[in-house]
Amino acid sequence: MMRLRWVDIEKNGVKNLIVPVTQDRELTDHPIIARLVEAAKGYPEFKGEKGDELILYRPDGFPVERVLFLGLGKSEAVNRETLRAFTGKGVQKGIGMKLEEAMFEVPSPKRLDRDPKEVLEPMLEGAFLANHRFTRYKKEKKERELARIAFLAPRSIQQQLRRLPESVETVCRGTLLAREWVSMPANEKRPEDFARAVMAEARKTGLKATLYTEKTLRQKGFNALLSVSAGSERQAQMVVLEHATVKTGKPVVLVGKGVTFDTGGINLKPGQGMDEMKTDMSGAAAVAATLIAASRLKMKRRLVGVLPIVENMPSGSAARPGDIVKSFFGKTVEIANTDAEGRLILIDAMAWAAKTYKPEFMIDLATLTGACVVALGEKIAGLFTEDEALAGAILESGERTFERCWRLPMPEDYKDLLKSDLADIRNVAESRWGGAIQGALFLAEFMEKTRWAHIDIAGPASAKKGGPYCSPGGTGFGVRLLCDILERV
Ligand code: BES
Ligand code: MN
Ligand code: ZN
Repeated sequence: MMRLRWVDIEKNGVKNLIVPVTQDRELTDHPIIARLVEAAKGYPEFKGEKGDELILYRPDGFPVERVLFLGLGKSEAVNRETLRAFTGKGVQKGIGMKLEEAMFEVPSPKRLDRDPKEVLEPMLEGAFLANHRFTRYKKEKKERELARIAFLAPRSIQQQLRRLPESVETVCRGTLLAREWVSMPANEKRPEDFARAVMAEARKTGLKATLYTEKTLRQKGFNALLSVSAGSERQAQMVVLEHATVKTGKPVVLVGKGVTFDTGGINLKPGQGMDEMKTDMSGAAAVAATLIAASRLKMKRRLVGVLPIVENMPSGSAARPGDIVKSFFGKTVEIANTDAEGRLILIDAMAWAAKTYKPEFMIDLATLTGACVVALGEKIAGLFTEDEALAGAILESGERTFERCWRLPMPEDYKDLLKSDLADIRNVAESRWGGAIQGALFLAEFMEKTRWAHIDIAGPASAKKGGPYCSPGGTGFGVRLLCDILERV
């Protein structure tokens, strides 16, 4: 639980105080904290520069057990992300010191020339997201999350932003849920397990959850999707989540790639790094968690989440390179490479969703291509869309949430690369260049007139190293981004 509080430090004292300091500007309106910062800057090793840290224990004359000062660098460089990183780091330090609770000093928005919400919101996010450890599989839990996190904020800010901690918690709980699903090993999230886990979480919040089993998917003609699960002993699943606080208007449809493990199929991947392919359901995890958050927030809009869930395995019953299948949309696809499986499950799910819901717009999230990671690195997602308004909204939300997207082109003449001699289209080009673009262009062939954007999250969906407010493993990338988009468009 995170709370905004105002305590009279002199009267009541504080146990663990965490204070942001810049090298060039006073940030606090609080006379006691101003004096503490002055004391901290009296030490030569602490100047408030980026990365500077100092702990004072029971500083003379102050009723505080310990104060952790964290340097933010120059005040002009303070932004949403540095504030997130500040509270994230504070919480990590607190966990490291085995603290039960911590209180963050909220810098004065006026002194930073910022809106109060622009200061407090990222601080709440960084703290909440950092206060999470994935310890499900550890017998000995070495690190414990903080039990209480408070924010020292004057009453005017408390009144103005009274509901903010709760709404930030709701969205960030979605991020943590997605992280847990992504980090879970593939032996514990075979398609039916993952589908059932999603259904159970969704129903708790009042979402309508429908499960389409392999039998139904076959009847409906999801042959591209079924070709991917053909090699697995486990059946394909599709979960559809519906949020409808309002009855009118077209829904927004979100689609997430849910490959619970991607061996590559008969085009088997090399062994090195294959374990990472348990994260190939990150798109589905993010979409499910977004719907759950939207439902808890009682967002006033119609929303549908579609999650095609399969396991891509090689076996005697697996699809072979060169196989041709008829997709739900009607076009035949030559499966030139069984490792380009994400696009095969997406085209059936997306074409079905477009036909069934006639959405206002559709966004799909998918760990689609290694090529996108080559292009943009591990922290930035690839954005593909021909809809300018949608592109603008997504890029802007990406900047705000720091779930960054970079738009890549969908050049008309590249479409020729996907021409098949025998079928209507092939799932990969003969050359590997521009692999992320090939993936997006392939999907586009099944979208007709629906307003649609594709976000390739192969890079940012998981992180080996972790960051200031994310431990190693799944990052939950996309949940805050999608929630922000939905709140704004
Ligand atoms: N799931 C992978 C993409 C991926 C790569 C995700 C790295 C996360 C990290 C996808 O199914 C895949 O295998 N893509 C192939 C496409 C190729 C066969 C055209 C790839 O990127 O190599
Ligand atoms: Mn693959
Ligand atoms: Zn894949």
